[in-house]
Amino acid sequence: MSDKPRLLILGARGFVGQHLAIQAPPAFQLFQADLPATGWPGLAVDITSGASVGAAFREASPHVVVLLAATSDIDECEADPQRAEQINVGGAAYVVEACARHGAKLIFTSSAAVFDGTRHGYRESDDPNPLSVYGRTKARAEQLVLRTLPTSIVIRLALVVGFAQNHGTNAMLNKLAEKLRAGQSVTFPDFEYRNPIDAGTLAKFMLELIKLPGSGGVYHLGASESISRFELGLRLARRMGFSSGLIHSQTTPLPGRAPRGLDHFLLTERVRTVCRTPVPSCNEVIERAVNGTTQAYI
Ligand SMILES: NC(=O)c1ccc[n+]([C@@H]2O[C@H](COP(=O)([O-])OP(=O)(O)OC[C@H]3O[C@@H](n4cnc5c(N)ncnc54)[C@H](OP(=O)(O)O)[C@@H]3O)[C@@H](O)[C@H]2O)c1
Repeated sequence: MSDKPRLLILGARGFVGQHLAIQAPPAFQLFQADLPATGWPGLAVDITSGASVGAAFREASPHVVVLLAATSDIDECEADPQRAEQINVGGAAYVVEACARHGAKLIFTSSAAVFDGTRHGYRESDDPNPLSVYGRTKARAEQLVLRTLPTSIVIRLALVVGFAQNHGTNAMLNKLAEKLRAGQSVTFPDFEYRNPIDAGTLAKFMLELIKLPGSGGVYHLGASESISRFELGLRLARRMGFSSGLIHSQTTPLPGRAPRGLDHFLLTERVRTVCRTPVPSCNEVIERAVNGTTQAYI
């Protein structure tokens, strides 16, 4: 029996979960949970069921829980607000209840989409004003996490980049590399600005924040500067060895898509003051995202 603290990752099969699961084991006894799927060796959990969440908590008896499970496709959330609410808010509520019952510390990943993106630079203390269903569900989940468990850590992210071990996750680089390898051109908006973070560096920050005493509350995490999605796509494509001629800029929002904030630059002073891990530049993020550990698997 390990004497390491037990860490339960909910949504462990997803993009961020895979990176966290690679880095957590030296310090934690790891329990990975996700929706049941053929070949999934971890725990089966559906966060929209209190009974299912309860069973996973009984199995793992966690000291720390990282809630990554969510529906995070902004357009899908807009098309089906009820489902978005059920997973992102209802699911979070069951996890919060279970953490309270077990005395477990909760780390919750939220999004810059809680802001409207009308100005350059958001601090943790700024008032949310989400434009989309997805952003509203994240803002509501943040509130219920921090109201019930004030020592929880809420990490807001503008955009996470990197590879996942398998396809079908939210990992941007798997999708991009697949299209570019097939010689397809890819279009990115040149009017949406984000400060991205690579999934490996995000996992490192998460593990550092978990260990800090009294580190509850909201933390913004992202690169030290922001970049347009088009410029990011261009630099990622070049760094992966593809022709930049395959990357095209989109200059106006596509009709029918969920509303997105124009400028989601998350200011990172708070995380800089409490963490030893340095906040990377955009170029460092791109380098780490392309060279990330999980690329070896695809
Ligand atoms: N990636 C980003 O750029 C970004 C930016 C801001 C915030 N975030 C947040 O960070 C978290 C992790 O994102 P990610 O990129 O790793 O997303 P992801 O790849 O989609 O991973 C989420 C995982 O949760 C699972 N899941 C969905 N519904 C579930 C349920 N009812 N019960 C249990 N598991 C469920 C998904 O399974 P299926 O795939 O089978 O549905 C998936 O394995 C999310 O909360 C997301 O909103 C991500």
